[in-house]
Amino acid sequence: MRPKLIAGNWKMNKLVSDALPWAEELTGELGTPRTGIELLLCVPATHLHPLRQELQDSGVRLGAQDLSSHDEGAYTGEISGAMLRDAGADFVLVGHSERRRYHGEDDALLNAKLRAAQRSWLTPILCIGEDEEERDAGRANAVVLAQLEGALDGLEINSARELVIAYEPVWSIGTGRTATPADAQNMCSVIRAWLDDRFPEVGNRLRILYGGSMNPMNAAELLAQPDIDGGLIGGASLDVTDLLAIYGAVQ
Ligand code: PGA
Repeated sequence: MRPKLIAGNWKMNKLVSDALPWAEELTGELGTPRTGIELLLCVPATHLHPLRQELQDSGVRLGAQDLSSHDEGAYTGEISGAMLRDAGADFVLVGHSERRRYHGEDDALLNAKLRAAQRSWLTPILCIGEDEEERDAGRANAVVLAQLEGALDGLEINSARELVIAYEPVWSIGTGRTATPADAQNMCSVIRAWLDDRFPEVGNRLRILYGGSMNPMNAAELLAQPDIDGGLIGGASLDVTDLLAIYGAVQ
């Protein structure tokens, strides 16, 4: 019922001159895309336009990693949702823990960014997750639910295309320490219950991804969990073979 989504997050890696042959290799090895699974690359904004051309007709989708909360105007250095869409993005990450931590993004800003994504017809992937101290203190569920409440405050969601959630425990990002499939499923079911309650019409159709050190070895078990609808993959998405192994691990 919910199509799976395998989303790479390249972060600030690769030049366009590396990305184009990479994409060619990907489409060569991918063959005909499988039905019921979407493959998405969230790339630096400068890579969107050239990759859109390279990936034409491949079925591979593109996303950005951040957007401005404003639509246009005197905001030096910012990139609007409309610009990202114009360059080839269909999705955009919002509130990745690295944006929260290094750029001080708070709930109010993320709420404004989600609204900006909606205005530009981009599907936002809202990233949430507790840090290690919060998990050790037994506060993981409360932290994650508060992040949902804060970022989605007052937002209307009318279709499954309007929101994806990525649960990424901060302690597992880039560390090689993955949440156990049971712990990840547990949190994703808590998120699912909250979404069902908050958006009764569409909550059950919204996709929830797991992210944090997902790799070809651990992907199958994580992706087999009933409330995990895909993955947000950082390090392993830089390598065609690893990314396709994760894509292939979807049952
Ligand atoms: P990782 O990153 O897969 O390298 O842990 C995931 C992410 O930050 O989205």
